[in-house]
Amino acid sequence: MIDLRSDTVTVPTQAMREVMFNAEVGDDVYGEDPTVNKLQNYVANLFGKEDALYVPSGTMSNQLSIKILTNPGDEVITEADAHIYYYETAGPSILSQVQIRPIASDNSMPDLDKIESAIRPDIYYFPNSKLICIENTHNRHGGMVVEYDYLVNLRKLADKYNLKLHLDGARIWNAHIKTGVPLSDYGKLFDTISVCLSKGLGAPVGSLIVSTKENISKALKWRKIFGGGMRQAGIIAAAGLYALENNLELMKNDHKNAQYFAQNVNLIDKISCNPEKVHTNIVVFELDKSLSPEKFVSDCKENGLHLHWIGDNRIRVVFHLQISDQDTENALEIIKKSIN
Ligand SMILES: Cc1ncc(COP(=O)(O)O)c(C=O)c1O
Repeated sequence: MIDLRSDTVTVPTQAMREVMFNAEVGDDVYGEDPTVNKLQNYVANLFGKEDALYVPSGTMSNQLSIKILTNPGDEVITEADAHIYYYETAGPSILSQVQIRPIASDNSMPDLDKIESAIRPDIYYFPNSKLICIENTHNRHGGMVVEYDYLVNLRKLADKYNLKLHLDGARIWNAHIKTGVPLSDYGKLFDTISVCLSKGLGAPVGSLIVSTKENISKALKWRKIFGGGMRQAGIIAAAGLYALENNLELMKNDHKNAQYFAQNVNLIDKISCNPEKVHTNIVVFELDKSLSPEKFVSDCKENGLHLHWIGDNRIRVVFHLQISDQDTENALEIIKKSIN
């Protein structure tokens, strides 16, 4: 089965498993796991930040960031298709008692004017605007890269109104590999950054928040409250370190395969796809309205290709570490065979 549903489906390779097997571990709730500590320092350094905290998931690192940057009753601005708003089961309203103000965009970068006009004046009957969250690369916008200049201007806007800025950088690695913007340049712009090791990097589990020492010590307390304190977590942190040291550069190949796939899937009858919108490892294509997306996805599955239907007539495919050039060719053949 060729599984293109997500870059979260990768499984640890033999080399990664060996590193995990040999990992030095301790009790991380006491701060005594040397491998977790090494990973946290490593990632904090990559982003030029003071500190980092290892957590079980990207959802937890986003939610913890919101928790430490807001107070109950605050308003948080996100893009309308952001993971935080779309897929985190109203977590901000449950865990942080904040309200989300979604702003639509067609390219993952809401107009700065629209963001500015969504920032509330300081009047008692309004919520307090406190935080802006941005996602780079953007999952539901097909892995689009948020431009660095846009982020610089967003930071200026946030500073003008004294707002905090959080980056959902689950796939910031892909943005960095695509654009060459150093990770530390992203670090300069954000109060908190959430990064995932279990997507394109191919580790089995784990995310981190990077920020100041003060913010990370707040997040540490809230991680415990949220039930995210892990004990001998070095066994999985080792996989994250291995992934960062060995798999980051390999993302170039995922981007190449995604671009090749987009150009060729667009040539298939009853499918349209704009390769210009494919920046990194995610491709979204559209089926002709005459087709049933459910049937198409299930026919592809029967023929050995797992795809993800994301609503309307849109299908998402994601390239990752365990998809070869040959798998990419085979996927296109299966789609041709399944389309009728
Ligand atoms: C952009 C983005 N942020 C956050 C997450 C959440 O990560 P996790 O599944 O580890 O909770 C995902 C998961 O796909 C994602 O795509």
